[in-house]
Amino acid sequence: MKAPSGPWLELDEVESTQTIAAEHVRSGQPTSIVLALHQKAGKGRLGRVWHSDKADSLTFSIIFNDYPDHEKPYLIGMACALAAAAAVHTKVRWPNDLVIGPKKVGGILTELIRAPDGKLIPVVGIGINLNQSSFPDELALIATSLKLEQDGERSATDTAAGILKRIELLPEPNDWADLAPIWDLLDLTPGKQYRLPNGDLATAVAVGSAAQLICSVNGESQTVLAAEALFGHER
Ligand code: BTN
Repeated sequence: MKAPSGPWLELDEVESTQTIAAEHVRSGQPTSIVLALHQKAGKGRLGRVWHSDKADSLTFSIIFNDYPDHEKPYLIGMACALAAAAAVHTKVRWPNDLVIGPKKVGGILTELIRAPDGKLIPVVGIGINLNQSSFPDELALIATSLKLEQDGERSATDTAAGILKRIELLPEPNDWADLAPIWDLLDLTPGKQYRLPNGDLATAVAVGSAAQLICSVNGESQTVLAAEALFGHER
C-alpha cells in the first residue's frame, strides 16, 4: 500500500488535525501529514469527542491523495489500524481501535473529503495515548497508554513515522481478503460488547469475509457493515 509522500505539517496546538487536513484537501495542497502536539477539539468516531492530553498523545491525520474515490474507503482506515498496531505492538478491535487487552490505547477516524477535482480523498486521523502515567477514574478501566503497558516514553513524530513505514509494507487494500490474514493475527474483537445503532447490546462473534462485524443479540446473529462504522464523509 502507498503511504503518502507529500509534505508534513507539524503544528503546536490545533482544534483538530482532521479539520486542517480537510482544508488542505479542499484547497488542493499536496500535504500528506498533519500532526499536532495538542488538539483542543479532537474528533472521534460517531460524532464523539476525542480527548488527548497535551504532549502525551500522538494526534495526526494522513491524507491519502493516492486513493481518490476508493471503492471501499473503510479498508484504508482498517489498514491504518493494522499498520499502527504493528508499529506500536498492540492488537486491534473492530472497526479500527487499537487495544491492549480490554483497554483502548488508540482510535482511528476515517473521513472522505472532496478535492477541487471532485474526487473524494480518504483522510485518516489516528490518536494514540503515548506517555500518560494515569487516567481519570472514569476512564481507567477502559483506557490505557503505551507508557503504562510497555517500557519508556515515545516521541509523537517518530511514532507517526513508524506507522507510515508499516503502511508501505501492507498489501493494496482492494478487498477485505487482502487485509484479513493480517487482521486475524492481531484481532481481539470476538467477545467484545458493542452498542448497535438501534440501541441493542451485542456480543461480537467475528469479523466476516466483507469486513463486517458479526455479532449476537439475545442469541440471534446480526451484522454491522464496516462502511456504517465510517463516519463523517462528504457526498
Ligand atoms: C475514535 O473515536 O476512536 C477515533 C479517534 C480518532 C482521533 C484522531 S486524533 C487525530 C485525528 N484528529 C481528530 O480530531 N481525530 C483524529
